[in-house]
Order: sequence, then C-alpha cells, then structure tokens
Amino acid sequence: MLNVKGLKCAFNNAGATVVGVDDVSFNIEKGACYALLGPSGCGKTTTLRCVAGLQEPSGGVIEIDGRVVYDATAGICVPTHERPIGVVFQSYAIWPHMTVFENVAYPLRVQRPRLRESEIRDRVMNVLSLVGMKDIGERPAPRLSGGQQQRVALARAIVRNPALVLLDEPLSNLDAVLRDHMRKELAELIARVGVTALFVTHDQIEAMSLAHRIAVMKDGRIVQEGAPREIYAHPRDIFVAQFLGAANTIDGVVDTALADGRARVRLNDGQSLTCRSAAQPGSPVTLVLRPERLRLSASRPDGSAGLAAQVRSVTFLGGFVECVTELGDARLRVIGPPDVSPEAGAGVWLCLLDEPIALPRRE
Ligand SMILES: Nc1ncnc2c1ncn2[C@@H]1O[C@H](COP(=O)(O)OP(=O)(O)OP(=O)(O)O)[C@@H](O)[C@H]1O
Ligand SMILES: [Mg+2]
Repeated sequence: MLNVKGLKCAFNNAGATVVGVDDVSFNIEKGACYALLGPSGCGKTTTLRCVAGLQEPSGGVIEIDGRVVYDATAGICVPTHERPIGVVFQSYAIWPHMTVFENVAYPLRVQRPRLRESEIRDRVMNVLSLVGMKDIGERPAPRLSGGQQQRVALARAIVRNPALVLLDEPLSNLDAVLRDHMRKELAELIARVGVTALFVTHDQIEAMSLAHRIAVMKDGRIVQEGAPREIYAHPRDIFVAQFLGAANTIDGVVDTALADGRARVRLNDGQSLTCRSAAQPGSPVTLVLRPERLRLSASRPDGSAGLAAQVRSVTFLGGFVECVTELGDARLRVIGPPDVSPEAGAGVWLCLLDEPIALPRRE
C-alpha cells in the first residue's frame, strides 16, 4: 500500500547540511498499522512529512496505493492535496473558529468538483458517529477536551476516505490517564475504519500496542523492523533492546559456544549463564535481561537458571514492587508482586524465566 524506497531528506542549516532521513525503506500492507519509533530527532516527523508531501525529499521513491507520488530521478512530486492521505498532526490543528462539524467538513468543502451540501452532511455525520462525536457536532471547537480534539482530528483525517492516514505523535499531548484510554480507543477506531495507518511516536508502549509492525529509527535510519513481539524478543542491538522497554544489561564474555545458537557466558563477577547468542568464545557480549522475566527468590532456584545478587533498594509502587539488585558492578531491576519485599542489603537469587539474549559488544 505504502512503499517507501531509499528515502533521503537533507536540510540546509545555515550552510551546514543536516541529514534528517538517510536511506529509509519500508512497506505497509493494506489495512495495517505501522509505527516509526525512535528518540527525538531521529527523523520520524521528516519521514511522515515526506510521505504527506509537506516536505520535499532529496532522494528516493514513494508510492501510495499503486501510484508513485515522489520519484527523485523521474522528477515526480505529487502535491499534498492530490495524495490519497489524511493527516493528524501532533497539535491536532483543530480550527478554533469553527464548530466540530465544520472542522470535519473542511476537507470536503475544499474538494473539487464541489460536493452537494447534503452529501457533505451525510459524510461528516457518518465519521462523527464513527468516532462517537455525533451529538456534539455543533459545539465550537475550543470547548473540547483533549480526547475529543483527538477524535475530531481523526474524523477530519478520514472524512475523504483516504487510502492512508498519517499520524504524528497522536497521543503525546494528552495526560497519562487519557493517553492510556485513547490508545485503546485509537486502536479500535483504526481497526473499525479499516484504513491503512502510518504513525510516529517516541513511546514504545504506544508503538507496541497500536502497530502491527514497527520500524525502530536512529539517526535518520531504520535500525530494525518487525512485528512488536519479534523485535522485543530479538532486538538486533542494545539500542533497540533498551528502547523497547527498560531492559537490564550486564556485560560478560562468551566461554563456550553451544548448539542451537546458544552460548555459555561468564559474567564479570564470575557467575555463568546460558544465553541465546551466536558469538564465538572469547567475544565480549552484553546480556539483555527484561525485568519481567526475572523473579526474586530467597534460595537458589532448582530447574531454572539463577544469579546471586544483593538487594540495593525496594520501592513499593502499588500493584508491584520494584527491586534494584546489584551483581558485581551491574544493577538489575526486577519487578515483583507487592507482597515480596526483601530487605535492602540482603542476598537474593534472581531466577531467569527464559534464556537471555547476549548481543555482541564492541569494545
Ligand atoms: N526544517 C528543518 N530544517 C533543518 N533541520 C531540520 C528541519 N526539520 C528537521 N530537521 C532536523 O532533522 C532531524 C530529524 O528531525 P525530525 O523532526 O524528523 O525528528 P523526530 O524524530 O520527529 O523528533 P521528535 O521526536 O523530537 O519529534 C533533526 O536533526 C532535526 O533537527
Ligand atoms: Mg517529530
């Protein structure tokens, strides 16, 4: 549906060239929801703006729904209003001087040839009821909550039945509780409308809960692409592992290579563990240990692998406790049920629920 190939976008910043997007390629299947995830400045918005036609790239090809809308070498650059897209901006860009109805109707009113008023009314009421806003169509736009503004922005983006909806940080200006609620609502809405969606976010929870596939970006490039579970379980490097959840890391060296892509790794403090790793003996590696895959135990676990550690701090967080443990010079965070509360300074065992991944470390 959306096909982006070798997209490049450079900016001229007071004579210096800043690379915003550097050779980005990805495809989105029809009806899928795709996320560009990455830290601030990695090129997410720039990629989205290039797809929208709001920013002219410096190279590459963009194809939407079978039509090439940008091709650097062929000199094709289709203007925004001729691309089959709807955009939800980070600020929502709801016009304050209009009612909810008129905000949503706007893209239809500027459409040529003109639509009949009755058709505009039908289509606007249709999308307003889709987003649960049918009864407040006449309300002036400034009198809307954050969540309602978000729904209006989405309604406006889909009113022309675009092939593709682009959303830039669609939830970032909502407070934490509303964001949680709207995340689920947005996922439902996108599925119900059946539209193909590309959204950008720096929030991994948002990306994992909304998207079928995620591209993790860094410095203008895609470093890894895949289904949320796939990249969570098999991060290509430490950056991806850390970005997709507050992973613990601990350094070690491969002792022995085992069968099936596994290896015995010796940690800096002398303890050993079996990990998923294709690294050769002697290679320095970094282990990724997810807090939710560790359990605290007073005694050495039998059956599963364990590491001896010392409790540094225990923080009660309502539904769970967060325990920071020390193992040599590494700190490992463990999440436990609220009734588990070891003393700071106590010796504990960390039981590993599965074999951690050990990634090559460049020294
Ligand atoms: N109009 C511009 N002129 C010059 N440099 C720009 C321009 N727009 C973006 N950049 C630069 O391109 C890079 C990517 O910016 P972009 O806005 O795409 O990042 P982002 O991933 O959306 O970040 P954020 O999460 O902060 O929104 C940054 O280094 C940024 O400073
Ligand atoms: Mg941005």
